[in-house]
Amino acid sequence: MNKKFPEGFLWGGATAANQIEGGWNEGNKGLSIADVLPGGKERLKLLKEPGFTFEIDKEKYNYPNHEAIDFYHRYKEDIALFAEMGFKAFRLSIAWTRIFPNGTESEPNEEGIVFYDQVFDELHKYGIEPVVTISHYEMPLHLAKEYGGWRNRELVALFERYARAIFERYKEKVKYWMTFNEINGALHFPLMSMGFVPESEETKYQELFQAFHHQFVASSLAVKACREIIPDAKIGCMILAAPVYPYDCNPENVMHALEEERLLNFFCADVQVRGEYPPFIQRVFDERGVKLDIREGDLELIKEHTVDYIGLSYYMSVTQKKDKTDDERIFGNVFDGVKNPFLKASDWGWEIDPTGLRIILNRLYDRYRVPLFIVENGLGAYDKVEEDGSIHDDYRIDYLRRHIEAAREAIADGVDLLGYLVWGCIDLVSASTGEFSKRYGLIYVDRHDDGSGTLERKKKKSFDWYQTVIATNGEQI
Ligand code: BG6
Repeated sequence: MNKKFPEGFLWGGATAANQIEGGWNEGNKGLSIADVLPGGKERLKLLKEPGFTFEIDKEKYNYPNHEAIDFYHRYKEDIALFAEMGFKAFRLSIAWTRIFPNGTESEPNEEGIVFYDQVFDELHKYGIEPVVTISHYEMPLHLAKEYGGWRNRELVALFERYARAIFERYKEKVKYWMTFNEINGALHFPLMSMGFVPESEETKYQELFQAFHHQFVASSLAVKACREIIPDAKIGCMILAAPVYPYDCNPENVMHALEEERLLNFFCADVQVRGEYPPFIQRVFDERGVKLDIREGDLELIKEHTVDYIGLSYYMSVTQKKDKTDDERIFGNVFDGVKNPFLKASDWGWEIDPTGLRIILNRLYDRYRVPLFIVENGLGAYDKVEEDGSIHDDYRIDYLRRHIEAAREAIADGVDLLGYLVWGCIDLVSASTGEFSKRYGLIYVDRHDDGSGTLERKKKKSFDWYQTVIATNGEQI
């Protein structure tokens, strides 16, 4: 049995522009949806409630994404640290608003283009492969406010123009692409990726699924453009992957978990990998009153331009019970499931489940037979800096070790896995809570929830550990 990571396995780390760059109003960058999301735990609530104003109110809130960790000015220092760890790949996203500040311009913004050119050159200097997400929770604010986000069909052409511009410009430098980050996550948080909060419970599913359809068409057009412009590139979809477990063997709960699993893990991937809407979705549409506006040629486009691989994030599993009482529900786990008595949770209530990673990798590979790529996995935790400046994050090492072991088991199960990227390899702003104190990094950044801190970078204990993991291609974990 092969229990080794393959030669050329892409070890590394992952980030997103809005969570690291800062420089929110530099280089002619336009405002993005991330620039109007305040920090702190109330952010999660704002993401879900109708009536979001899209305004910046500095009297009331702070906006951690504005300066983030200042990667915009410090990328050379950060990339040198990634290289020291031995990264083979680094995932970043391009901020749409650096390239097309409002999303509607006819020509790209040269200053934005040059910034990423320099970042890619710096990565290649160390032999690090860039893995680029085209849209990661940072769509132009203008498109959210004035166009109603992805509910509006006009975004399809605007996205295609953006994708073509970056393929043309970076065709020599970027060979791994992904279209929309966690496209399926919009079922829970549409504001960040689709630019709207549904207007009401009655219209919610109509709005969401129509927006999904527009993203599917846009994603197919991007795949088509990528193949024309960079024939030797690989372009993937990216899904939030979380296996859904039935609470027990009561068939009602098993069926309920199956329905939830299909919607969460398979609906978007079926469209983007198999190139068609799955049969089960018609019943979901009928029960939720959804009638899609599908234009001529859309389904053919989706069928013809499917992705090469599935990028996935993995943090947790979810356990479902058909009739749950309010006492049984847990909300920390992002999804509205019930507590799994076999699992412990992180400080943010995310249930830690390394075997769940092996399970979902197997489920995805069984179903799609295309390479998989873990482009996010990591532990958000509070870190303590000791008096001598050291940071002993053994809990993070333990978490990563157990998940890497699970990935290795999945490879032994026959799964074709391209790589493993630690989410937030350098501390960054949390997407769901806007906190700095929810740290994922192997590199500590001196920046705090109240906006204080020197931004100095420090290696955590996990930095040295991961360096050894990579140097031994996962033999020594
Ligand atoms: C994924 C996102 O959902 O999880 C990232 O793609 C995000 O952007 C990560 O940061 C961890 O979530 P959070 O809310 O802890 O930052």
